[in-house]
Amino acid sequence: MTEFAPVDPTSTDAWSQLAGIAEGFSPDLREWFATDPGRAGRYTFQAGDLTVDLSKNLLTDEILAQLLQLAQDVDVPGRFSAMISGEHINVTEDRAVLHTALRRPKDGVGLVPPAGFVVDGADIDADVHATLDKVYAFADKVRSGAWTGITGKAIKTVVNIGIGGSDLGPVMVYEALKPYVQAGLECRFVSNIDPTDVYEKTANLDPETTLFIVASKTFGTLETLTNARLAREWLWNQLLASGAIADTDAARSDAVAKHFVAVSTALDKVAAFGIDPENAFGFWDWVGGRFSIDSAIGTSVVVAIGPDNWRAFLSGFHTVDEHMRTAPLEQNVPVLMGLLNVWYSNFLKAQSHAVLPYAQYLHRFPAYLQQLTMESNGKSVRWDGTPVTTDTGEIFWGEPGTNGQHAFYQLIHQGTRLIPADFIAVANPAHPLKDETGDGAAVEPGQDVHGLFMANFFAQTKALAFGKTAAEVRAEGTDESVVPARSFSGNRPTTSILAPALTPSVVGQLIALYEHIVFTEGTIWGIDSFDQWGVELGKQLALQVAPAVDGDADALAAQDSSTKALISKYLELRN
Ligand code: F6P
Repeated sequence: MTEFAPVDPTSTDAWSQLAGIAEGFSPDLREWFATDPGRAGRYTFQAGDLTVDLSKNLLTDEILAQLLQLAQDVDVPGRFSAMISGEHINVTEDRAVLHTALRRPKDGVGLVPPAGFVVDGADIDADVHATLDKVYAFADKVRSGAWTGITGKAIKTVVNIGIGGSDLGPVMVYEALKPYVQAGLECRFVSNIDPTDVYEKTANLDPETTLFIVASKTFGTLETLTNARLAREWLWNQLLASGAIADTDAARSDAVAKHFVAVSTALDKVAAFGIDPENAFGFWDWVGGRFSIDSAIGTSVVVAIGPDNWRAFLSGFHTVDEHMRTAPLEQNVPVLMGLLNVWYSNFLKAQSHAVLPYAQYLHRFPAYLQQLTMESNGKSVRWDGTPVTTDTGEIFWGEPGTNGQHAFYQLIHQGTRLIPADFIAVANPAHPLKDETGDGAAVEPGQDVHGLFMANFFAQTKALAFGKTAAEVRAEGTDESVVPARSFSGNRPTTSILAPALTPSVVGQLIALYEHIVFTEGTIWGIDSFDQWGVELGKQLALQVAPAVDGDADALAAQDSSTKALISKYLELRN
């Protein structure tokens, strides 16, 4: 058990000060920028390659000072140090929380804790690098064509079967790093137990060149195991139909050996499924599912982008880990962003937080962050079992810009709710296309389209911050009756994150940034951000309800009246 008892944040003087400031708080970003030329410079920070401008937030030096005091009062640095050293800060599962160990460089130089540190009897660095080496060797074999399917053909498609952290991380990073994927290789991702998912993802595949990776920490997740069985059945049926294998148990088992590998902490269950443990990549109970993309759970992506790019990806994480560990709190980007989220959700009563990547390849980043943030910090009890003393967890959501602009930005600009938003962009696109023709008006021939895209990025945060006053609207000759509808209040907070390019390292840095934001908020709220008991009840009930859905009268009778009626209606409609 951790020796860190949670400090009730609401009992601190900093909390009272912040509550006092929040009362009657009347932010004025126009005024703040006009009277303080140093504002942008003072509130812009660097973490690795990420330039992070916090100046368009509803932040003053006074608020910042109190937020930083709050971080000290709850000892964010101390708890981070406990985490990276392997203390069991995941108290409800009595586990260490060591995702930061997954990206410690192999050379071990200057590491804290020192290279070769032991947790629960295991040499963490040795275990991590042994597994990484195994994953790299496997990836090289698939990429070179040395790993062949049952008929001797090289693999062209890797299908990752997993859900939650065993899906969202791999699919998000695969999409983010598409330009790094080896030509001729493709990954697909099956997650939903809706049979449509496995059907669609296998529909036009050649079984002889397809490799399935069953990714499940527990190897007990209903969705993943069901999908894995469906995929195995598909493989056998296809290979039998084309005559590629004989109709024997031995041929079936050979096919599984050549076309299935697994990633799991439960290697016994992997073997029971029929996958050779030699073809399984392990990880450890100290890696939470939503923190596992940089473990063997990322194997599909390692195959796609190759070990060298994966090493760069891991080094990106490590850069931000080191920033989190060493940067003073007042320059510590994850801490500052976590504190701002606390300011908005606990004091200014924001309910949700938008993440708006201006990078098409990051289109799954908001979905990834939903699990990372909400499964981690959606908690009502603290790590000592007592009730939380304040609201926890924000609702994270988002879509890539500029699509979001034409969908939900209206509400962010003019709605009644406060929605802090993170804008994320890169300076150099993977595809620097030009609009050679232009439109003869606003868009010049030869216009760099990424420039246009970025103009939107800059314009949106400007509009949100500074708005448009009624006087400005009137000055345009607008009819008085629509002046209110065409005015913008401004003071809508945003953070701008700018990186040089969407490289493997930058993607790793972005993920680590949000991991540590989650950590900072969880520590302030005194919650265990690393368990997820809230998903268990639904899982148990699904198993309990399943016989009723299958027509078992007794099981149906045992349901509550609403569920009974719904299942009966479903059975009536189902033909
Ligand atoms: O949804 C709960 C959860 O346990 C997640 O935390 C996890 O990422 C997901 O299920 C998948 O679990 P597993 O990797 O064990 O199949």
